[in-house]
Formats: sequence, structure tokens, C-alpha cells
Amino acid sequence: MTSRSITLTVNAQRIESEVEPRMHLGDFLRQRLGMTGTHLGCEHGVCGACTVLVNGDAVRSCLMLAVQADGMDVVTVEGLALADGSLAPIQQAFQKHHALQCGFCTPGVVMSLYALWMEAGCTSVEAARAKNGGIVDTSLITLSASSNHSDLLGIGTKGTAAGGSRRSQMGASVRSAGAEPITGKLR
Ligand code: FES
Repeated sequence: MTSRSITLTVNAQRIESEVEPRMHLGDFLRQRLGMTGTHLGCEHGVCGACTVLVNGDAVRSCLMLAVQADGMDVVTVEGLALADGSLAPIQQAFQKHHALQCGFCTPGVVMSLYALWMEAGCTSVEAARAKNGGIVDTSLITLSASSNHSDLLGIGTKGTAAGGSRRSQMGASVRSAGAEPITGKLR
């Protein structure tokens, strides 16, 4: 099958790669970029484990072809880490509250919650579940039992740095001008 050239941004890094048109974004992230934080479960859009952000929207990466991401800005769970490499507040809160069961779908849940918070400052577990849309939402079930959703969402007790955006409060800035291009090959 004829390969296509794509250029996109993944976690603030410019990616240039050749991909087969049939490769979905989840496989591209995992197999070509080595970003295995994005998990693949059902691979037909049901479980939500593979959720990433594409131009700020939560997207199931198993339902989007890599060629469709050409020119777009993708953020994976790896991209939430703070500049010093430490976990983002939302990830720290998941860890603190043990907001998972087996943990397999947790990256997708984290990204869905991140997208929700970015969109509307939503702190509702029900809204998060609706956004995630998955039947594999054990992390959200556990989250429902958590007594401190605001902590889990990185608001309230975490505060906001002066002039800080929601994105910077939740995790690292995902855009950085002048980022070094990388090849897109498996590391
Ligand atoms: Fe993509 Fe389940 S792996 S929705």
C-alpha cells in the first residue's frame, strides 16, 4: 500500500513520518513513536482506553487514521507531565486516590477528564463518564467513590499560578514554539 507523508505535533514535538493510510492513530503513537501510554482495548471505539486529545478534543485514537491527524496537534497521556518530568496534578490525584482498578483504561480516563476540564471546568463524574463513553470505565467507578473530586481534577487545593491557564494547571503546556522535530521512528 502506498505510504503517505504526514506532519503533526505530538506532545509539542513536530513529527514527520511516512504512514500507510490504513494505520490508525493509536497504532501510530504506540508503534511508530513508542508512546505506549496510550492503550488499545476494544479497537472499535467503545472502551475509551485509547483516548487522546486532537486539537484539544478527546478523540478515540483507534477510530482515527494517522493520515487524518496530518497537520493536527495531538496530546497523549505522556504529554501531561510537568516540565520537570513529574506527574501532572490530575495524575498525582489519581495516584493519591488510587482511582483505578486494573489501570488499563486509566490513560484514556485521564485524557477524557483533562479534555472535560479544558472545555468547561467540569468536575462531574457523570459528565466525565458521558464524555468517555466507555463500558471499560472502571477508573471512573473508582473515582466516583473518591471523596475529593476537586483534588483529583487538580483544582481548588492545587491553586493556580498567577496568570496560569487551566492547561498549565492541569499539566504541562502542550505547545512550545521551536520544538525540535523528531523522525517518528520507534525509539
Ligand atoms: Fe479505542 Fe477501545 S481501543 S475505544
